[in-house]
Amino acid sequence: MCGIVGYIGEGDAVSILIESLKKLEYRGYDSAGLALLDDEGKPQVFKSEGEISQLESILPKLSSCVGIGHTRWATHGKPSTVNAHPHVSGSICVVHNGIIENYQELKEALESEGFIFVSDTDTEVLAHLINKYHTEHPGDLAGALKSALEVVRGSYALAVLSEEHPHELVAARKDSPLIIGLGENENFIASDIPAILKYTNRVIYVDNLEMVTVKKTSVQVFDLEGNPKTKEEHIIQWDLEAAEKAGYPHFMLKEIHEQTSSIHETLAGRLQELEGDVTFEELGLDKEQIRKLQRIEIIACGTSYNAGLVGKYLFEGQTGIHTDVDNGSEFRYSNPVLAPSTLVIAITQSGETADTLAAVREAASYGCKTLAITNVVGSTMSREASNTIYTRAGPEIGVAATKSFISQLVVLYLLAIHFARVCSMMDADRVRKLLSELRKIPGHVDRILMDKERIQKCAARFSASKDYFFIGRNINYPIALEGALKLKEISYIHAEGYAAGELKHGPLALLSKDVPVVAIAPQGHTYDKILSNIREVKSREASVIAIADSDDNEISKYVDVVIPIPKTDVILSPLLTTVVVQLLAYYTALERDCSIDKPRNLAKSVTVE
Ligand code: AGP
Repeated sequence: MCGIVGYIGEGDAVSILIESLKKLEYRGYDSAGLALLDDEGKPQVFKSEGEISQLESILPKLSSCVGIGHTRWATHGKPSTVNAHPHVSGSICVVHNGIIENYQELKEALESEGFIFVSDTDTEVLAHLINKYHTEHPGDLAGALKSALEVVRGSYALAVLSEEHPHELVAARKDSPLIIGLGENENFIASDIPAILKYTNRVIYVDNLEMVTVKKTSVQVFDLEGNPKTKEEHIIQWDLEAAEKAGYPHFMLKEIHEQTSSIHETLAGRLQELEGDVTFEELGLDKEQIRKLQRIEIIACGTSYNAGLVGKYLFEGQTGIHTDVDNGSEFRYSNPVLAPSTLVIAITQSGETADTLAAVREAASYGCKTLAITNVVGSTMSREASNTIYTRAGPEIGVAATKSFISQLVVLYLLAIHFARVCSMMDADRVRKLLSELRKIPGHVDRILMDKERIQKCAARFSASKDYFFIGRNINYPIALEGALKLKEISYIHAEGYAAGELKHGPLALLSKDVPVVAIAPQGHTYDKILSNIREVKSREASVIAIADSDDNEISKYVDVVIPIPKTDVILSPLLTTVVVQLLAYYTALERDCSIDKPRNLAKSVTVE
């Protein structure tokens, strides 16, 4: 996730773009840059590693009325000045948010035509492509962009500036957000509304597969065939604080909603449907090494540990590779039994959790290969692990991990599918079916989000409870743990996550009519078992909230509330049941007037032992 901005008008482009970028820092802040045309129409490009304030500190005094800017959250190539946007080719400067999936093949083709690449980014291919087509048809910047977009695959919100077109900017969108702000004798381009709200509240939402030519006094929107489109102007009523949360009252709710797009980002460029496989550039393990793996050891803390438990079900169930999951804090003092044939996977959204880092260092001292799954490019974990897979969920502000967890799960699904394919445990047809179901998950998540009032009502009904139980079986057992963790973390209600079959070995003694039990019960091979567990719970007069498949007509007979989820392959169901438990925790905390984004006693990144 990155932020892009553009300005053309009569104002001071430098200060407007810097102010706008600061409002987008929530989208990323590892490096930033501006491209401007000065008073003489000459392009000036400034880039810097670090936050926007660092870029600001290197800017000379410069008079300019047109420019583009970018704040980066690295996905391809480490955070550095050379990888910061704008990327430049000839007279073309580009800022981009998204991922160009086929950049490697485009890069090779462009290099063979003599284009020289200086960065490790996927975006640089866009700059060279637009330059190439612009050179072939000079005078038509929008046409050059259109031709470039015809050959790229992936997602983009991008803006282009050229010294040969000082009176226009062009922009385009596919699967990454883009808006146009309308002013008097000035217009704005941005990834999100907060960027422009200081200057105007008149907005056009750019839709997927649309291009825009933005001039000082006009804005024209086209489809990718070049046909003009009529767009509605919207008046934004939010104040700035609300706008930074995109109108949501809390970052947590915003981040729960962002899961539809973060899942897309995590999947981007990694699915090979034709071959029936998954590809990870960053894996660092060839097929032979994967086949020789005897064991997987997953190390993580908190929510990331719960993701690791889902990983255990996936690796053991789909690949037959024995998998253990340990808390970083326990593992580091446990005299582990490890051999070089063990792959150690460290899961950490921040990449800075002290216990996980120490545990991975311990594992590395046994000669094991270490693979990090993290959200933060350039984090300590990404520098120390042998290899790193990025989850690409974008910055997460709420202390409660939500979209970073879903993205960790998606990476684990993809890894398990790849390992299963390599170890001949899954055939290409099964992989294709799973990948096609995975592609549907963002749409399913969207449906759950549209039904959130049902979850809010349920949360309100039980919000005065002192204790809560979450039960699940098999691959949804870790989601019971995650539901309980989310609830205690932000609503301060005591909650326990249990494997449903374990209730009768102790905790059943705690159940009464005052203790709600959330039963995660999608249909699968343990469905009948959890129905029995639900009956055990009901006979102790506890209320049961079931999370069940939307076509399940049976379960409502036994429970008090049903929260339906769209039907998917049961092994993928944690991607949906998670969203329900997140919303349940969120609305319970809201009802209890808790500090949702900054719960007491907790921090986003736990860098101490
Ligand atoms: C989750 O909501 C918590 N904030 C916490 O459990 C977190 O997952 C844990 O501290 C691990 O953090 P990491 O993923 O950054 O390593």
